[in-house]
Parts: sequence; C-alpha cells; structure tokens
Amino acid sequence: MTIRFFGFPAIAAYCASKGGLSQLTRVLAVENIQHGIRVNAVGAGDVVTNLLNHFMPGGREFLDQHGKNAPIGHAAQPEEIAEVVAFLASERASFLVDSVVMADGGYSVQVTAPSPPNTGDLSKEELREATRLYSIKCARCHKFYDPADYGDAEWRTWMNKMSRKARLKADQAQLLSRYLETFRTAQRSDGKDRTP
Ligand code: HEC
Repeated sequence: MTIRFFGFPAIAAYCASKGGLSQLTRVLAVENIQHGIRVNAVGAGDVVTNLLNHFMPGGREFLDQHGKNAPIGHAAQPEEIAEVVAFLASERASFLVDSVVMADGGYSVQVTAPSPPNTGDLSKEELREATRLYSIKCARCHKFYDPADYGDAEWRTWMNKMSRKARLKADQAQLLSRYLETFRTAQRSDGKDRTP
C-alpha cells in the first residue's frame, strides 16, 4: 500500500485502489472495534516474492533490484512482512486499531530520483547508487531540478553549493555530478539545448 501516497501517471485505477484500501481499513476498524476486532493493514514495499511472475519474466529479480531504490537500500524478504502481520494479530498490538503500518524500507517518505533518458558512461551499479544518493541526500529537501534547464557555469555553482548543503563526500559529489550530467547530454543530442 506504499502507492497510496503517490500519484503515478497512467495507473490511476491502481493508485485509487490503494488509497481506497487505506480508507477501508479505517472504516472497518471503527465498525468492528465494538466486537473486539482490531483492523489494521500493512503497507508493504518491495518484497522478494513470486507476485509478478505471472506477467513478467524474472519477477523476483525485478523486485530485488527495485527494492534497492528504497532508503534502506534493499527489498524485504517475505518473513519481514510476516513478522509485522504476526505482531498486529497478537495481543502485543492490543491498542492498534486503525493503522496502516508502513513496512516499506522508507520508500513512501522519499522523493525518488528519476531515471535518466540515457545512462551515459555510468555502470548499472553506479546508476543505482547515484539515484539512491539523490533520493536520500538531495530530494529530502526539494524536487528534482533538471540540469538541462541551467547553463554550465550556473549549474556548477549550484552543484558546489548543494554538495556542501547535502554534506556529500568528494566521491559522492563526483558520482552525482556524472549522473546529473546524463540529463544534459540527452537534451543536447535531442537538439533541444535549453541552455540560456
Ligand atoms: C538541506 C536542504 C537541501 C539539500 C540537502 C539540497 N538542497 Fe538544493 N536547494 C535547497 C534550497 C533551500 C534551495 C534554494 C536556493 C538557495 O539555497 O540558495 C536549493 C536550490 C537548489 C537548486 C537551484 C534551484 C533554482 O532556484 O533554480 C538546485 C539546482 C539544487 N538545489 C540542487 C540540489 C542538489 C543536486 C542537491 C543534492 C546534492 C541538493 N540541491 C541538496 C536546499 C537543499
């Protein structure tokens, strides 16, 4: 139910169903507490299961990879969600009546970095690390700014200032610069140079 917080283009019905489940949990909770029944839900993030296998090859691998975008840096094993459910169903959760417990490795509280139109000279691992860094370091303060909207010198000034603001180590700042540069090069090869 992590998706209940986001609007994703082209999957309106899916997003609405997640938001609906969240509200359904709360309504069922107040309707049923008089019978001593507590209703709670789990907002699971990426979990390595067979869920996607019926419509894509390598569903488990996809979930495993995709989970690396979460702040915690990896997908969950099914047992980690089962533990939450067992807790909710137990007397130890006796005062939890209407919660959606987010067991998503932090996915729902971060702004994710976009994938660049081309990956430049970044390896798959570097790209993954760069988008993760962007999400936890830069996107905790603001939205994504497209480097193609800035002139070279202006962008360099912002990168220097923001690398300090985000307390990046030198190698992290360098990796992020290479990742962000891929957005500029993509624009240029389109012939749509938006440099002022
Ligand atoms: C602690 C919060 C914080 C962090 C972390 C941060 N920024 Fe910023 N950023 C700001 C604020 C506030 C501004 C507004 C301008 C200023 O500070 O002068 C800004 C402005 C910018 C701008 C210019 C926007 C404009 O007005 O055109 C860019 C580009 C930018 N940030 C990129 C980044 C990048 C890339 C990172 C990660 C390395 C980052 N920022 C990290 C707070 C942050």
